[in-house]
Amino acid sequence: MDFWTGIAKLREMRGAHIADLLKDDNRSADFTMTDGPFLFDLSKSSLTSEALNLLIEMAADVPARRDQMFDGTPINETEGRAVLHTALRGDRPVMVEGSDVMPGVHDTLARMRTFANDVRDGTFQGQGGRITDVVNIGIGGSDLGPAMATLALSPYHDGPACHFVSNVDGADWAETAKRLDPATTLVIVASKTFTTIETLTNAKTARDWMAGSVADPAAQFAALSTAMDKTDAFGIDRSRVFGFEDWVGGRYSMWGPIGLSLMIAIGAANFDAFLRGAREMDDHFRTAPLARNLPVLLALVGIWNHQVCGYPTRAVLPYDNRLARLPAYLQQLEMESNGKGVTMAGDALPGPAGPVVWGEPGTNGQHAFYQLIHQGRTPVPCEFMVAAAGHEPALDHHHRLLIANCLAQSEALLKGRSLDEARAKIADRFDGAELERQAAHRVFEGNRPSTTLIYPKLTPAVLGGIVAMYEHRVFVEGVMLGINSFDQWGVELGKELATSLGPLVEGGDASDKDASTQALLAQLRAWRG
Ligand code: F6P
Repeated sequence: MDFWTGIAKLREMRGAHIADLLKDDNRSADFTMTDGPFLFDLSKSSLTSEALNLLIEMAADVPARRDQMFDGTPINETEGRAVLHTALRGDRPVMVEGSDVMPGVHDTLARMRTFANDVRDGTFQGQGGRITDVVNIGIGGSDLGPAMATLALSPYHDGPACHFVSNVDGADWAETAKRLDPATTLVIVASKTFTTIETLTNAKTARDWMAGSVADPAAQFAALSTAMDKTDAFGIDRSRVFGFEDWVGGRYSMWGPIGLSLMIAIGAANFDAFLRGAREMDDHFRTAPLARNLPVLLALVGIWNHQVCGYPTRAVLPYDNRLARLPAYLQQLEMESNGKGVTMAGDALPGPAGPVVWGEPGTNGQHAFYQLIHQGRTPVPCEFMVAAAGHEPALDHHHRLLIANCLAQSEALLKGRSLDEARAKIADRFDGAELERQAAHRVFEGNRPSTTLIYPKLTPAVLGGIVAMYEHRVFVEGVMLGINSFDQWGVELGKELATSLGPLVEGGDASDKDASTQALLAQLRAWRG
């Protein structure tokens, strides 16, 4: 069935009250899936069994496309590339243009392990002694993955301190460099293309900074890239260059060389566990029937909420402080992948592709934006996640509160509070018209959808599984929408215009710019003096 015909049918199935759906004794069991360390509960969504069955029918093309992805077919059709981030964590031969890519993947991983071990145990030294600090300079997919995962796995962090510099705003480098000794710092320049202006600007600044203190700055640089000619031109010795192929998309790249800073932080064995967790999710995604498949279900509930119910955004709400960067990571993963306007064939999409993704860790968000989630007029589907245990056994009473808050929020979103309940709460303080007025402010509509993912503890393998699950969710949504989730042409125009505007910040003829841009430039030039 055509996707948008299915969506039209599904729209007729909307309207169930989640609390009513949960009165069905089987709902909780039927809408809760488990695999490995994960339990995913989608019973607090407004998806009915009938709608879910139709969505599963509409996902009929997913298995064939999925197999093409895993097998190295060039499914990124606008760039003529395979999509093989799964090979970076894989253990089966994968043929691309007639040859198996896995020996190359394993060789690079082995080189990364040796280098990471050398940095960690002091075999590789800076010009002032043992490496104390590592700075990853990269942006987007060359920053968010390792930055997110290094924070998430900080209980496993026993290597040098890791820092992440991404923004071309000099403040990012300057604030980081304040804490560094150039003689004991390793700089990793992470850029798939090695052309990204932000990364190259920061890398050159880092090299100049280091040149002020050590005789051979290049000796304390490593590079992660697909473009060896460009890393050579930058002057980084190939023994410290870790390459990968263009079949790894930037936002899917932390499983290989782009994960080097994470590997140095947590050690090769923990990095292997991270890859294993992702591989187990890959195996689940490849083999579980659609109706019991976690990434597929996550995608179907996403399509239900966005394309069917029309909710424009979704919030990712990890009750796990160390997952603070996960929403930002998922913003790139989901919005750069599925923020598209045309189908693979180039035709305008008749409806919206991916939603806006946003979020913050709980419980902090509760005291900030949850007001809108509970009482704003536009429902925000919430994706909660929480571990059964934290990494601080002595602070388990904190963790108990964390779990209680996570569950309480999804319960409150579901139940809401009726006008009668609101009146009863304040009837001792108000009466008459004032009681009615005050009660209206205390009504919660309820029936707000959420999903909850739980796991025993945030280990490297669990993190690998969570990220792989979201990667495959994005893939399933993209296949069903008929779009290309693996290109990102939408970011090009801004890059081109920034290049043309660069010299104009200092002066020159800006008359081909629009009136607003000209006026802004004029004032900025004046203030810059
Ligand atoms: O501008 C978008 C983008 O191309 C992302 O897709 C990518 O992750 C990021 O820039 C960084 O690119 P690179 O790794 O080539 O420096």
